[in-house]
Amino acid sequence: MKVLKATGASFEFETALVGGAAYDDGGHPLPAATLDLCRKSDAVLLGAVGGPRYDQIQPPTLRPEVGALLPLRSELNLYANVRPAKTLRPLMQASPLKMRAGSMVDLVVMRELTGGIYFAKPRERRDNGATAVDTCIYHRHEVERIANRAFQIARQRRREIVSVDKANVLETSRLWREVVTEMAAKNPDVKVTHMLVDNCAMQLIREPAQFDVILTENMFGDILSDEASMITGSLGLLPSASLSDEKAGKVFGLYEPVHGSAPDIAGQGRANPIAAILSTALMLRYSFDDDRGARRIEDAVEHALDAGLRTADIFEKGCNLVSTREMGDAIAFRLQSAAL
Ligand code: NAD
Ligand code: IPM
Ligand code: MN
Repeated sequence: MKVLKATGASFEFETALVGGAAYDDGGHPLPAATLDLCRKSDAVLLGAVGGPRYDQIQPPTLRPEVGALLPLRSELNLYANVRPAKTLRPLMQASPLKMRAGSMVDLVVMRELTGGIYFAKPRERRDNGATAVDTCIYHRHEVERIANRAFQIARQRRREIVSVDKANVLETSRLWREVVTEMAAKNPDVKVTHMLVDNCAMQLIREPAQFDVILTENMFGDILSDEASMITGSLGLLPSASLSDEKAGKVFGLYEPVHGSAPDIAGQGRANPIAAILSTALMLRYSFDDDRGARRIEDAVEHALDAGLRTADIFEKGCNLVSTREMGDAIAFRLQSAAL
């Protein structure tokens, strides 16, 4: 919010509790008032939910993840999760990969967000708890709509989609591949190839530069996006947009970092705020049709890094170690100054 205010544009902010804070306050991680407020808004900014204090709550449907984050995504129909991962120029050395041309990354994971094994039923215990059941279901229309979004995004980029699945084992993946193959034939201006998810996990490390758009289902996208983040240097850098259908030229979206609540470093001022800040840039780009505003925020982030400011996760010798708040202030300051 500090960074958005610093852009000089005017926003009406309202806040609502979700996750553990909402559970502590009223006994439910997703209060009806919070969901209503999200529905009435043009866009939602979400702070990560979850933490060890809430991991044992019974039933699990009252926990922050299953009781708040997933229902928010499905209730708001946020089926298209856009997770860009890009090597930032000042952070070339922050990647644990040896830096050569092939290890630069500039890709987008298009993750299906409201289907698959995260949502399908039954999800239950049987045999007095000795057997656990999760179900994975995909419907043709769910694959079609996320693939359509991937084609749109690919057209603004290098026009290459790698569709990632496990079609050698899973029936849902065979449907996924069938539908994506049909759609590829109808969209000949975009190059579409298929890759098995285990190979993709390996290729991301071997030569990340080969990827433009990775189109994949819910759980594979969850895992591959965390992997892709580390190639850029830190999970603390990766933003995400969770988008619904376009209505009257407007895209409703929820914007949040890819990372979680980082309980191991909570309260120490060590968390990198850049993932959250870049998520506000995605909000301007997708929900407010303000690409220029988005670029200003992205440039401000790069300026702060160019000036040598680093939170602990991306710290290198010779740089200036700053706290979460100091990094946020430095980025906001650059937006207020005339230069950007
Ligand atoms: P996590 O993403 O919170 O943290 C993983 C590791 O990355 C930790 O070592 C953490 O310190 C580090 N990290 C994460 N964000 C960082 C940042 N901004 N700057 C520096 N380092 C950062 O994942 P986890 O530890 O597996 O999960 C913790 C909790 O967060 C769990 O309860 C989980 O369910 C929840 N979670 C929530 C979301 C969400 O709300 N969208 C996403 C992922 C995990
Ligand atoms: C994410 C998170 C969530 C997910 C969890 C917290 C439910 O890991 O947004 O990537 O798996 O989708
Ligand atoms: Mn995740």
